[in-house]
Amino acid sequence: MGDHPVLFIPGPTEVDEELRQIMAMPLVGHRDPKFTAVVQDVCRRLRDLYLTAQATAFETCPATALMEAGIRNLVPRGGRTLHLVCGAFSKRWHEIARLCGREAEALPVPPGRAHAPAALRERLRAGPPVHAVAITHNETATGVIEPLRDLAAAVREQAPEALVLVDVVTSLGGAELRFDDWGLDFAFAGTQKCLALPPGLCTYAVSQRALARAATVEERGFLLDLPRAMADTNEGKTLATPCVPLVYALQRQLERIAAEGLPQRWRRHLALRDQTLAWASASGLRPFVADAAARSPTVSCIDALGGDVEALARRALGAGFKLDKGYGDLKGKAFRIGHMGDHGPERLGALLAAL
Ligand SMILES: Cc1ncc(COP(=O)(O)O)c(C=O)c1O
Repeated sequence: MGDHPVLFIPGPTEVDEELRQIMAMPLVGHRDPKFTAVVQDVCRRLRDLYLTAQATAFETCPATALMEAGIRNLVPRGGRTLHLVCGAFSKRWHEIARLCGREAEALPVPPGRAHAPAALRERLRAGPPVHAVAITHNETATGVIEPLRDLAAAVREQAPEALVLVDVVTSLGGAELRFDDWGLDFAFAGTQKCLALPPGLCTYAVSQRALARAATVEERGFLLDLPRAMADTNEGKTLATPCVPLVYALQRQLERIAAEGLPQRWRRHLALRDQTLAWASASGLRPFVADAAARSPTVSCIDALGGDVEALARRALGAGFKLDKGYGDLKGKAFRIGHMGDHGPERLGALLAAL
C-alpha cells in the first residue's frame, strides 16, 4: 500500500503494522476454546481500560448500535431521557431515543461549546424527572470535550435515580476517563478511534445498578440485550458470530495500551493537541473551540478563517497524509485533525510541516 495516506482523520484512525499482521491470521472458529479464552480475556482487559471493577464486554457492531442499546435497555418505553446536545453525535443520540419511543429532551449548547455543570444541575432541579442523562464525552464533530466528571457528579447529586449514559467513542483510550470513580452507568466506544484498530467492534461498560435497571425494562431486543450479552460474552460465548481477527487484534492492542500506561496515553494525546494548536496559532489560525478547557485532546477542529480548506487537504495528501475537511455545517470552514490512537509527535510534526 505504497500510496496509502496516513490517517489523521478523526476515525477511522491509522492502524499499526503489528496489528494489521495479526488480522491477516488464518481464521479460527468462534466456538473454538482457543478463541473463547481470548473473548474472556478481552472482557477482563476492558475493565482496566474503562477503569471499572464492574462489567465490560464488546459486540461486533458500530458504536451507534450501543447508543440505541443504551436507550432500549436502560430507559423504559415512554420514559424520559435528557441529552446534552453539543454537536452532530449528541444530536444523533437524541434522535435515536425519540425514534425508540422515549420522551427525549435536549439540553443544547451552541456548536463549539461544552455544557456547564451548573446548567445541568439547574435543569435537573427545575424540570421533570428523567430516567437517564445522555452525555457525549468528546463531540468529534466540533472537537469539544465535555467536563464529564463534573457533569456526572451533578446528576449524582441532583437526580440520584437517573442513570448516566456516556458516549466515549472518541475519548476511551485517548482522554482521561474513570468509569467507577466518576459514577458512570453505561459507556461505549468502537475500535476505530483512539484504540487505533479498524471499525467493527464496539466495547462497552455497564454498572451494576444499570444492569439491575435493565432487568426491569421490557423489549430490550435480542443481540444487545445488555444483561444477557454481558453474561454470555464474559463466558466467552458471543451470541452471534464475531469479527474473529479483530478480536485478536483488540486483545493485543489492550496489552499494548497497558504497557504504555493509561495516564501516559492520556498525556501523549494532550501533547499532540498542544502541538497541533501551537502550529495553528503560529499559522495565524485559531481553534474552533474558544474555551481552552473544552478543547479535545483527541481531535482538533481549526477555524480556517476563510482560507482554502480544499487546498490544505490537497497539500496534506501530496505529503502522504489525510485530514478532514470539516463535519456537517463546518465543512470547508473548519478542518479537523484527528490526533488519536497510536500517533506520535514526529508523525504529527511531519503533517504539520507539510501544511
Ligand atoms: C462521538 C461519536 N459518537 C458516535 C459515533 C458513531 O460511531 P459509529 O460510526 O461506530 O457508529 C462517532 C463516529 O464518528 C463519534 O465520533
